[in-house]
Amino acid sequence: MLSPEDNDRLCRTGPGTPMGKLFRLFWLPAMLSSEVREPDSPPRRLRILGEDLVGFRDTDGRVGIIDAYCPHKLAQLYWGRNEECGLRCPYHGWKFDVNGNCIDLPNVENAENTKRKMGITGYPTREAGWIIWVYMGPPDKMPGLPGLEWTTFPESQVSHHRWLQRTNWAQGMEGEIDTSHVSFLHRSNSPEHSLPPEFTYYGPPGPVDGSPSITLKETNYGFVYGSRRRTLNENEFVWRVTQWLVPMFCLIPNRGYPRTGRAWVPVDDYNVMTFGTCFNADRDFTDKERQILDAGSFFPPRLQPGSTRLDDGYIIDTWLPVANADNDFLIDREVQKSGNYTGIFGINEQDRCIQESLKSIPGVRNGGLVDRSRERLVSSDVPVITARKQLLKLLKDMENGIDPPQASRPDLYQVRAMADVSLHAVFDELLNERNDYIMSLAGS
Ligand code: FES
Ligand SMILES: [Fe+2]
Repeated sequence: MLSPEDNDRLCRTGPGTPMGKLFRLFWLPAMLSSEVREPDSPPRRLRILGEDLVGFRDTDGRVGIIDAYCPHKLAQLYWGRNEECGLRCPYHGWKFDVNGNCIDLPNVENAENTKRKMGITGYPTREAGWIIWVYMGPPDKMPGLPGLEWTTFPESQVSHHRWLQRTNWAQGMEGEIDTSHVSFLHRSNSPEHSLPPEFTYYGPPGPVDGSPSITLKETNYGFVYGSRRRTLNENEFVWRVTQWLVPMFCLIPNRGYPRTGRAWVPVDDYNVMTFGTCFNADRDFTDKERQILDAGSFFPPRLQPGSTRLDDGYIIDTWLPVANADNDFLIDREVQKSGNYTGIFGINEQDRCIQESLKSIPGVRNGGLVDRSRERLVSSDVPVITARKQLLKLLKDMENGIDPPQASRPDLYQVRAMADVSLHAVFDELLNERNDYIMSLAGS
C-alpha cells in the first residue's frame, strides 16, 4: 500500500516530476533499429515521458529524436520530407537536423539570423543491441549505455519487439517482479494452450506448489531474488532468479531458451511502451524459434503494426496487441473451464488483461494508474514492495542533491537471470554456486 502522494511520485514521469527527473538520468529504449533501418525512411511518431517526439534516420544514417512540432506554426514534423540530412516541415519548408537545429528557412528572406533562433529540442541517441536509445536528461550528466548483456549480441541472436500497454509504466514493471502470479495466471493443463517445454518458465520437472518461498537481496543496481518452489522430489527445488535493475529493467529467467528481459518506458502517465527482448547468448535463433516467438503465446503477444490515438488524441506509431481490452482479450470461457487458468491465449495477453483493468485512482481511465492506497499486500509481494521503496528513496536522495548512483554505473547492468532445478534449499547457497553465471559480469 502506498499513500496517494507516494503513488503519484512513483508513477508520474512528465517533465518536472520527481520520477520524470530520475528517468531522464538514464538512457531509455525509444525505437527498434529496424523501424528506421534505411536512411531517409519514414519518420515515426513517439511519445516518451510525456513528450511528443519524432524519430527518423537521416541520409547519413544518424538517428534523430526531436520535438514532434515545427516551431513556426506547430505543424507535425511527422508529415515532413526526410531528405538530405534533415526532416523538412511540409507546411513552409523549414528543415531540422538530427540535433534539432534549424538548417533551412526557405520562406524567409535573409534567414541566417532567424534560423539560428528556430532550433527545437533534439535529444542524443545511440544504437546498441538493435535498439535506438535516447537520453533526455541534462547534457552534463549523460552516462554510458546500460551494459545489459543482450545489447552485445548480433541481430541473429536477439528478438526484439515493442508494443503499447495501456497502463502506467509501474504497473507493467511490477507485474514483472510479481513471481507468485505465474503459478496461477499463467497455468495451463491443456497442451494446445501451453508453450513448448523449452519455452516454459520451468520445463520438466515442474513445481508442485503455488506459494514460492522468496529470498530477495538488495544490490547496488536494484535487487536479485530467488523464488523457490517444491517439486515431486522432496530434495529438489525449482529456482527462479530474477533481476530488477533501476529504474525499470527486468531480466526474467527461463530454464531453456530464450532468455528474456523487458524495459518499461513511460509513454505518458497512463501508457507504457513495453520493450521485450528474447535472446540466445551463444547461438542464432532458429526459424522455428522465431515462429514460436512471433506467434504471440509468450512475449511478445500477438501484435500488429499500427498507429494509435492516445487519450488526448496524439497519435503514435507502434505495435498494437491483437488481444486487448476492447475485445475482452479474446477470452474463451470453454478453454478456461477445460484447464487453462484464464482462457486467454498468451502469457503477455494474460498479464495485460489484469494490468490494464486494475482499479485506477479517481478520475483516471480504468487500468490507467492503479490506486495503490487500496492494495492489501502480503509476503509474496516483497519484490514489488522493495522496488517501490528503492525508487522512492532515490527520489528523496535526488531532492537532497544525490543522483541515483546506478545512472552513472552502466557496468552494474551486466547481470543475468537464471531458472533451474537445484538441490540447494537456501538462496545464498544457490547464489554462491552459480555466482559466476548470475553476477560475475557485474562491477563491484
Ligand atoms: S509550420 Fe513548419 S514551416 Fe511553417
Ligand atoms: Fe506474468
